[in-house]
Amino acid sequence: MNANDFPVTLDALAALCKRRGFIFQSSEIYGGINGFWDYGPMGCELKRNIREAWWKAMVRDRDDIVGLDASIIMHPRVWEASGHVGGFSDPMQSCRQCRRMFRADQVAEQLRESAWRRALTDAAATAGADGAVVWNPDAAARWLEKKGAALAPGLLARCREGERIETARLAALLAGFATPEGRPCPACGGELTPPRDFNLMFRTFIGALEDSAGQAYLRPETAQGIFANFLNVLDTARVKIPFGIAQIGKAFRNEINPRNYTFRSREFEQMELEYFIRPGTDAEMHAYWVEERMKWYRSIGLPEGRLSKYVYEPKELAHYASACTDVMYRFPFGTQELEGIAARGDFDLRRHQEYSGKAMEYFDPEKNERFVPHVVEPSAGVDRVALAALCEAYREEWVPKEAGGEPRTAVPGEPLPEGYEVRTVLRFAPVLAPIKAAVFPLLKNRPELVEKAKEVHALLRRRWPVFYDQTGAIGRRYRRQDEIGTPLGITIDFQTLDDGTVTVRDRDTMRQERAPIAELRDRVAAALGEA
Ligand code: GAP
Repeated sequence: MNANDFPVTLDALAALCKRRGFIFQSSEIYGGINGFWDYGPMGCELKRNIREAWWKAMVRDRDDIVGLDASIIMHPRVWEASGHVGGFSDPMQSCRQCRRMFRADQVAEQLRESAWRRALTDAAATAGADGAVVWNPDAAARWLEKKGAALAPGLLARCREGERIETARLAALLAGFATPEGRPCPACGGELTPPRDFNLMFRTFIGALEDSAGQAYLRPETAQGIFANFLNVLDTARVKIPFGIAQIGKAFRNEINPRNYTFRSREFEQMELEYFIRPGTDAEMHAYWVEERMKWYRSIGLPEGRLSKYVYEPKELAHYASACTDVMYRFPFGTQELEGIAARGDFDLRRHQEYSGKAMEYFDPEKNERFVPHVVEPSAGVDRVALAALCEAYREEWVPKEAGGEPRTAVPGEPLPEGYEVRTVLRFAPVLAPIKAAVFPLLKNRPELVEKAKEVHALLRRRWPVFYDQTGAIGRRYRRQDEIGTPLGITIDFQTLDDGTVTVRDRDTMRQERAPIAELRDRVAAALGEA
């Protein structure tokens, strides 16, 4: 267990995701490319299920929301109107020594986490334990050489220059890290440049000439495609306020510091809704969407206990916003945002009205009234939801070698009980499981079993993604499916040939029951919560 009572570390999860075809580093054969990820056969099914669950909840099951699929590259004026050209930037600091770049607002946190800074704090504490120890430069240099020279050459040089390094000085040095000017490079201890703005939009060029006339951007959010099409949808979709436009698609940000596996990437996918409302209903509609979205997260298997809300203080809000709440999930690396739900007033439509010269107005025939709608924007990330689902699903368990026993949660550090073996399992909610059931003939060299198993596979795959596997011992085949989170394992054995029943194994309890093939579709639907 790590500090967040998760039975998984990101390293263990990443290893499983690679081994079982969920997530690969992009361009791995060329050494990888930082901040970009590829989703393998299982990962793309997982993401598809997330998108479909979102689309169903937001568009299919409602009468007031319609869909949109806008282009990734839009007119550059869109990004001037939205404020991204002028303001979508992070203040950056780079290290004069190792040349690494850091987001200025993250340096303090990264410094706290840096190995050499921790070692230094330990040393200060040790040296100061009797209150009188003076750390001489040789000892300090030797200590730093041994423990942190590779990590902190800048600091090492400073220690060597000093006559004596007293614990108080060391403490003062560490205290200096609290101010932006005093902070050294978290990676090497070198000197950082003052913060400079760095625009996060990826730039590209349209046409043959790479000049400013052809400059365009990869969209940093899908939302602006919705605002830019507001009038088109209004004219064609017979929508009445309040109504929403939903969109799922790729977004790109040249993040300074992509990290925590897929959590902060440079290419990612958003699921965004712009819900257009009558001015004055902002608070009520915002509260409504916060609750709707929390319900949705629970419906895909994220438990109440790991979900939370972060409500913005008025001073944290953008000048045009009246409310913002983030849906947070407690990841193994800390509690972080899955989705932001903002009441943005009429800021976006007004800006596009100003920049395009088109009236972004809604006409209410009942009240004979024309106005620029306000908007509530729930904006979620597919990749973050996928990562949360994977973290939530991952378990290491002790399972009895003999059939029939219940799995037990593995206790780290304790020896494996006799008669047990370890299994890794992804306990996905069925709606997210990439494969819903796997069909196995007990033996692959018995044509009558193989033929029957293929029949059952054909029967089920018409409705669900179902896997067929005849290779290896049956126990090994179950384990493979446990590791990709398949809820049901269906085995065709000799009894099947006699009485037309199969065994249905439940991934979580590992219990097996017999079911007639004639009832199998209903049984599977019930087990998946679709009945
Ligand atoms: N239109 C509003 C908007 O884009 P945001 O908070 O910047 O707001 C919304 O992004 C969501 O998009 C986030 O809550 C997160 O789930 C996802 N997201 C943003 N940046 C991301 C990144 N670099 N990597 C992965 N997901 C990201």
